[in-house]
Amino acid sequence: MYFHGTSKVNARGHLEIGGLDTVELAEQFGTPLYVYDVALIRERARGFKQTFENLGVTAQVAYASKAFSSIGMVQLVDEEGLSLDVVSGGELYTAIAAKFPVERIHFHGNNKSKEELEMALKYKIGCIVVDNFYELELLESVCESMDTNTKILLRVTPGVEAHTHEYITTGQADSKFGFDLQNGQAEKALTIALASSRMEVLGLHCHIGSQIFETAGFLIAAQKIFEKLNEWKESLAFESEVLNLGGGFGIRYTNEDQPLPAAQYVAEIIEEVQKQVEKYAMNMPEIWIEPGRSLVGDAGTTLYKVGSRKEVPNIRQYVAVDGGMSDNIRPALYQAKYEAVLANRALETTCETVSIAGKCCESGDMLIWDIPLPKPGSDDLLAVFCTGAYGYAMANNYNRIPRPPVVFVENGQAKLVVKRETYEDLIRMDLSIKEKINN
Ligand SMILES: Cc1ncc(COP(=O)(O)O)c(C=O)c1O
Repeated sequence: MYFHGTSKVNARGHLEIGGLDTVELAEQFGTPLYVYDVALIRERARGFKQTFENLGVTAQVAYASKAFSSIGMVQLVDEEGLSLDVVSGGELYTAIAAKFPVERIHFHGNNKSKEELEMALKYKIGCIVVDNFYELELLESVCESMDTNTKILLRVTPGVEAHTHEYITTGQADSKFGFDLQNGQAEKALTIALASSRMEVLGLHCHIGSQIFETAGFLIAAQKIFEKLNEWKESLAFESEVLNLGGGFGIRYTNEDQPLPAAQYVAEIIEEVQKQVEKYAMNMPEIWIEPGRSLVGDAGTTLYKVGSRKEVPNIRQYVAVDGGMSDNIRPALYQAKYEAVLANRALETTCETVSIAGKCCESGDMLIWDIPLPKPGSDDLLAVFCTGAYGYAMANNYNRIPRPPVVFVENGQAKLVVKRETYEDLIRMDLSIKEKINN
């Protein structure tokens, strides 16, 4: 079994994270429960930052808060001196509530509303990543009406799509995001933005995919961007102060995944940008990146209580837990794979392969299809690893199941950072048809 960060088996044969026995955590906070290994998040954050520092490159490492956003998480990101990427008014609101330094917030999204742009401008956030022509026009008019200015990056689609070990280069990227680099959209957008007295164009942004285990896609994206930057140096007298190459650095969910160390992604990106800068005699831009999954993914573990069991003879043993697609929709949505252990019997030898089912009324609500475990019985505690990214963030109330709490563990201390939802929370927004609606 592969243990991430501070996870290990203690003398009682229990899974321990952050110096705490997960069986005791489950007793104290109930199940399902998301547990985050804070030391591992800090280690990952420092790893990214340190690589840029060691190589003497000015950079911003922005945590993509879509992976997991909460006030406590945003505060932790601030403690580690990272920047923050938000993609909605809600994520921005969370950052503001956490008192995150506004100048280090970047706002993404392919359909930001007028209200969201107004909010970003009101708080004078660091930059807005403009995604399309509609937004360019809207932002201009919102700036006018608020009599203010903003820094922007233009999101471009360089025609590279990367996922795991594969990347494809397409002449015309079929994506809902960004200005196409090849068909003239990006140049047109840059021309409009440069002519605006309300926007200061810091540079370009791209994000080529997720769970990427190779650096080639990032390097090709950088090459394609520099080809265009070279043209625009002459034609538009534009030099990019910032080049943001997005996130997508892969992590290990199962032994099928072999990610590179963070330092390698960063070092190879820097080397390529330096090469391009030399080739075209340009100034070195600041390099920004936006890791989400690779900062928090393997730091998260979900604890579930085992309940019912169903045997389909000669076919499958279903073992059901007290959560499922309501707290982790990734297996149902992306066929994502996970590893797990029985946290209260972590030293026992595995003796059967079972399928972990969720409790939602949906046949597709399976967390893991095949996992070897010691024969799980009801009330055993199942720990599913690597649920820190897009777990709580994508959690939902399907079947009116309350969302689980989130606890941070570090150095033998547990800190509740998101409370468990209650049944009252579930009906908080409901209105009765028996009462008069006041509005
Ligand atoms: C623009 C952008 N930046 C960063 C990320 C974070 O990606 P990951 O969590 O794979 O690092 C995403 C994910 O969708 C994204 O769309």
